[in-house]
Amino acid sequence: MTTLETALPNPIMGAFWARPQAEIESDLATLRAVGQPTHHEIEIPEGIELPPELDMLATGGTWVLTKMDQILEVSKNPHLYSSAQGITILDTPPEFNEFFSSMIAMDDPRHARLRKLVSAGFTPKMLNQLQESVQDQAAMIVDEVSERGECDFVVDVAARLPLKIVCDLMAIPDSQLDFVFQQSNVILGAGDPEYAPAHGVDPLTSLLMAGGALAELMNDVAATKEGTDADDLTSLLVNAEVDGEKLTYGDIASFFILLVVAGNETTRNAISWGLTYLTDNPDQRKIWADDVEGVGPKAIEEIVRLASPVTYMRRTALEDTELGGASIAAGDKVSMFYLAANRDEDHFVDPYRFDVRRDPNNHVGFGGPGPHFCLGAHLARREIFVMFRELFERLPDIEASGEPDPLESSFIHGVKHLPATFTPVPSRR
Ligand code: HEM
Repeated sequence: MTTLETALPNPIMGAFWARPQAEIESDLATLRAVGQPTHHEIEIPEGIELPPELDMLATGGTWVLTKMDQILEVSKNPHLYSSAQGITILDTPPEFNEFFSSMIAMDDPRHARLRKLVSAGFTPKMLNQLQESVQDQAAMIVDEVSERGECDFVVDVAARLPLKIVCDLMAIPDSQLDFVFQQSNVILGAGDPEYAPAHGVDPLTSLLMAGGALAELMNDVAATKEGTDADDLTSLLVNAEVDGEKLTYGDIASFFILLVVAGNETTRNAISWGLTYLTDNPDQRKIWADDVEGVGPKAIEEIVRLASPVTYMRRTALEDTELGGASIAAGDKVSMFYLAANRDEDHFVDPYRFDVRRDPNNHVGFGGPGPHFCLGAHLARREIFVMFRELFERLPDIEASGEPDPLESSFIHGVKHLPATFTPVPSRR
């Protein structure tokens, strides 16, 4: 590591992301200005000694990519940059594979096989079926807060829609929604003190417990779907055969956990950051509110660009190679910091500006072009759009009334709480 790099800000630590936005932006600009990928190590806070098995998972550090052209290059070359060794900078111990090893952490041909199968759940026909449910849920969620005049926008509004939609997709009963919500917070917020595991349980054990609990729930639901031809995704997966083989319950459970993790927190955070951007930019809000349907598609992309709910995805180099002037060795971790590239001055005009009509807007919020591009992107766009359309209609003056409370995580650009106020309106129920 060069002296320059030891002096650079370190975006792989959760604490980097729990600071005021201006500091984060300034440090990311510093990293982009280097031009080359920079190498960073996980810093274990002083006084903390990791047990040897955890210490091993944290070794090696990672290359950090903050420039758009380098991220595109890695995304487009999965034969050089593998997903199968893990997608987060900290390696996961082998016992995690049972619950957390779905398609996002596979390479082709295994990945392609599974993706082909589950894509059946994301066809235009399936999405149209969900459309009504998305609208009904958004209306109900907004209606439930409408008389209060204030709410915690994350907990009371943004978090509720994606959770219900993922559970509907997989036919998980409504009675289990709160349970799924709690377990997903444990999984994605493991590094944040608010979601820290119960006293006496270490973070890895609590992750495994949450994974195990979701898998058990999924197994119970899957068992009720054997031999049925219902049109939810679980029925389809339980009864499908790929090349003469059926998926195991374990495959289905880890896919469900992937959806809970990939589909929930991401969409919740996009909606939550979206409200802060609209509050901070009343001119842009007016442009969108004046033509909700027309401006909608571009406004959604702009929210996803700036929010970049998935901060980074990791790959592992399979061969010695060169990238943006850096020599990458086989086995090195390479982490694509989407949030940083989505502000790349060489790629976006006026990158910090929230512009609901931005065009072109080739962001990498849903990942770069490549085999792992977000499978749920269309669904996410629909959920975000429907939620804001409902808010514009029912609570037209809703705004964030305080600062977003950021999640302490380098992986998920999350908001835990966001106070919001609006003129109360009578419930329609
Ligand atoms: C604003 C919301 C969302 C964002 C920002 C987002 C972002 C991402 C990103 C960055 C990736 C990884 C891309 C890569 O590694 O190249 C990904 C993958 C994935 N996402 Fe999303 N996502 C969102 C919503 C959803 C939803 C709603 C679902 C489903 C219900 C979903 C399902 C998936 C799946 C299954 C993958 C793995 C695809 C694969 O490995 O082939 N996502 N997403």
